[in-house]
Amino acid sequence: MSETQSLYELLGGETGVRALVDRFYDLMDSAPEAKDIRALHAASLNQSREILFMFLSGWSDGPQLYIEKFGHPRLRQRHMPFAIGERERDQWLWCMDRALDAGNFNPTVVERLKFRFEEVADFMKNQGGG
Ligand code: HEM
Repeated sequence: MSETQSLYELLGGETGVRALVDRFYDLMDSAPEAKDIRALHAASLNQSREILFMFLSGWSDGPQLYIEKFGHPRLRQRHMPFAIGERERDQWLWCMDRALDAGNFNPTVVERLKFRFEEVADFMKNQGGG
């Protein structure tokens, strides 16, 4: 893995990040393992797909699309309207881990991303204490 390439590039740029987000929401939309977090979302996931794509683009050191449009993400605060405990965190990571595994990415890149997603998802918990 080259140190000069950003995660965004390693994910395949816009096409790769969009495909990752699509796999993630396709799983959330269909897998019984994710039914509780699916229920937190709107009937259509189209807007979620677009916004998560914009966010992950900047988060992986690609174009800062989300910040340009919406400003600072304040992610924890934006998730406050939704009850997120361990179960919801685990369901989110279940979808993301599988979406990453299906991506034909460099295994080192996948490990790095899984670790970072775990940290962010854990930070999003607002139910059930630590
Ligand atoms: C821990 C479990 C999580 C649950 C249950 C959850 C659920 C949700 C829900 C229901 C929404 C609102 C609907 C939508 O706009 O799609 C949302 C928005 C969002 N989530 Fe999550 N989420 C979780 C973790 C994460 C993580 C780890 C990230 C980033 C790596 C993330 C990024 C976002 C973004 C960028 C938005 C849009 C915020 C905005 O309104 O501008 N979420 N999430």
